[in-house]
Amino acid sequence: MTDDLMRAGSLDELYTLLKPLSTGPGWNKPAPSLWDEPRKTFVPFRWRYDQAKAALGAAGRLINTELAERRNLILFNPVPGNDYATTRTLLAAYQMILPQEKARSHRHTPNALRLIVDADDGAYTVVDGVKLMMRPGDVLLTPNWCWHGHGNESPAPAYWIDFLDTPLIHALEPMFFEPHPETYEPVTRTTTESPMRFGWEDTLRRLSEAAKTPSGPYGTQIELGNPAMATISLHMVLLQSGAETAAHRTTSNNIYAVAQGHGASVIDGQSFVWSRGDVIAVPAWRPHSHCANEDSVLLRVSDEPVLQKLDLLRCDAG
Ligand SMILES: [Fe+2]
Repeated sequence: MTDDLMRAGSLDELYTLLKPLSTGPGWNKPAPSLWDEPRKTFVPFRWRYDQAKAALGAAGRLINTELAERRNLILFNPVPGNDYATTRTLLAAYQMILPQEKARSHRHTPNALRLIVDADDGAYTVVDGVKLMMRPGDVLLTPNWCWHGHGNESPAPAYWIDFLDTPLIHALEPMFFEPHPETYEPVTRTTTESPMRFGWEDTLRRLSEAAKTPSGPYGTQIELGNPAMATISLHMVLLQSGAETAAHRTTSNNIYAVAQGHGASVIDGQSFVWSRGDVIAVPAWRPHSHCANEDSVLLRVSDEPVLQKLDLLRCDAG
């Protein structure tokens, strides 16, 4: 074989001989491996809460939490070949749990968090044995390898939006998952004070005290955690009525969820109106700006910590 390679009389003959060796000529690649700036692979998109709520209502009749590990709706980015990721590294999903239901405890390497949209007193998450009540606007963390399960002792269905870094973990491959040996993790205590919980009242207080930058790229924003988790940063963004944020683009992927208010975002020239409970995907390097019709609060979920650690975070005015 080595002799055959040495004697190759043409490039085509050389390519033919190289192929079974799983080797290819770098000067004749089928596609370039370098390009001048990030490609627009994933697209901007908006998912509506009223539609998700209707679908989850149907799912509530059709599937229970015995059959489904989680009753959730995956918000997959509408690009060919994708049926899972919301952006390159992040996933968002709507989830609902009916009164008296419990979603069993498990743990996994993907980092996860949830923004509570609608819940009455009695809906909860248990994280590593600590019971955290769910109230609208609260953000609850379940970082890498923390046990977590959910339950609802209220008379109304509870709805929230999950965010996970599963697409990143799929790419890097360190996926581990384990169901809890007791199915439902026993509760050791109940609290509102936990590093796993960012309460809505606290968010509103911090936003009211923050120096106002309504025309900044992210309006007036506060960070939840520093960062909230190793791969995901969380910010609460206050958009003041009528103010437009500065258009910008970033190499990080952002997913916005509307905690309060309504308005519109222009993402790479496309306009998306939104209201409470909606989810908006802003894939990397898409110029975008927001404008609110009333004072509004968005949760911004981003893979910034990953880009930062790898020295790959770049932002500009778009
Ligand atoms: Fe989970």
